[in-house]
Amino acid sequence: MSEKIKFTIDGKECIAKKGQYILEAALENGIYIPFLCNMKGVKPAGSCRLCNVKINGRNMTACTTPVAAGMEVESEIPELQELRLSIIEMLFVEGNHFCPSCEKSGNCELQALAYKFQMLVPRFPYEFPIKEVDASSPKLYIDRNRCIKCKRCIRNIKDENGKSYFAFYKRAHDVEICLDKELAATMSDELAQKAMDTCPVGAILRKEKGFDQPIGTRKFDKQAIGTDIISVVENINMEVKE
Ligand code: FES
Repeated sequence: MSEKIKFTIDGKECIAKKGQYILEAALENGIYIPFLCNMKGVKPAGSCRLCNVKINGRNMTACTTPVAAGMEVESEIPELQELRLSIIEMLFVEGNHFCPSCEKSGNCELQALAYKFQMLVPRFPYEFPIKEVDASSPKLYIDRNRCIKCKRCIRNIKDENGKSYFAFYKRAHDVEICLDKELAATMSDELAQKAMDTCPVGAILRKEKGFDQPIGTRKFDKQAIGTDIISVVENINMEVKE
């Protein structure tokens, strides 16, 4: 039997398995810590920084920090909610996100987080970058305008030998997602769907299939992101808006 350890998040006592990451343990304890690049069953990357929490006064990513016995984690404090809102705003301004025309609208985690944090107009200037789309794959359409570079697709969509279908090319601020053309040519419908479902936004879309489910009836149209995890009705601390 795996060893259990106790720790707290915002004063609430939680139980974790030894070696478990804070984010995973939080979700199992019914506490929602916002995240974007993390995905259940996929090795964490710690790239989006949305899951930032405070431990002993230091900011740490909850998805990559293992729980330690007696650890006191702060999450829903104004400073971190403000930081999370800023990250969401920055993601919107550094890409080209046109939610009303996006197939992923209502199923998009970035859009859902913007609603949750009551983002209005971002406080940062829009960059309106020029991004290429890639429709060369038989099954998938890649729209880099919406990519938030979370690497979920790179980490989760692999062939039987563990080779990833997706990769990054270019560097630093210019980094872009690309799809291995040879692997993409043999991609099954199931894997193409998994790739679309893995993407938290609408950067990876199935071809010849769209708007099957009308906007207004999709997952986050019906419930705010995280509410399926939270055991108690949550109130985002709106002090960040004041
Ligand atoms: Fe932890 Fe993205 S979810 S850094």
